[in-house]
Amino acid sequence: MAGLFISFEGGDGAGKSTQVGLLAKWLEERGKEVVSTREPGGTELGAQIRNLLLHGDHVSPRAEALLFAADRAHHVESKIKPALARGAVVITDRYFDSSVAYQGAARSLDSAQVRDLSIWAVEGLLPKLTFLLDVPAQESSSRIDGELDRMELAGSDFHCRVRDEFLALAKAEPQRFVVIDGTQSIETIAEQIKLSVEPLL
Ligand code: ADP
Ligand code: TYD
Repeated sequence: MAGLFISFEGGDGAGKSTQVGLLAKWLEERGKEVVSTREPGGTELGAQIRNLLLHGDHVSPRAEALLFAADRAHHVESKIKPALARGAVVITDRYFDSSVAYQGAARSLDSAQVRDLSIWAVEGLLPKLTFLLDVPAQESSSRIDGELDRMELAGSDFHCRVRDEFLALAKAEPQRFVVIDGTQSIETIAEQIKLSVEPLL
């Protein structure tokens, strides 16, 4: 496809939305069409799924995996693919690696099966580049203010498993992932991200 597809991954509070915003601004200043989006909830249907997943009652682990995959399938079909087809840069705050880390590793479903489910949902569409903002779980959770959602309430063991899985995924696919120390300053991280994106423009 004509456009460029970039995802951001990391724990809750790792700094993803901050960096998505800064990268989008920098690309727009360079005259690019940018579509910034997120999962879950990048579409109208997705906003309803997001509400069920983050602010509703208990969801069984397999139903949770299917709902994240349903959000993703609709997101890709209705928003990401059309934007890429017209040549835009699409930046998503979370994509299928989040399902592998949260539902696969942390919820103890089979990671390979969760990955296959998402790959089926998106007909194999992978990002060209995935930034993993790596922050120790304790530090990222201390950055979160306001009321905690259902995933944020899952406990520190859960969030440590999420972090370990993200690092393992990055190690397994070094050509797609760029791992960034998310404890650095916002400006330093933004500079490192620009350096990785520039050659792809
Ligand atoms: P995420 O989207 O990963 O949940 P956010 O970008 O919303 O993370 O950041 C969570 C909080 O941490 C915000 O208050 C934000 O200003 C702050 N923050 C973001 N990046 C950094 C950083 N590199 N160092 C310290 N605080 C940060
Ligand atoms: P969100 O507020 O978007 O993330 P953050 O707290 O990092 O800003 O919340 C999304 C939550 O859903 C977050 O806890 C991660 C989780 N999640 C999954 O468990 N699986 C997935 O596939 C996705 C996309 C998110």
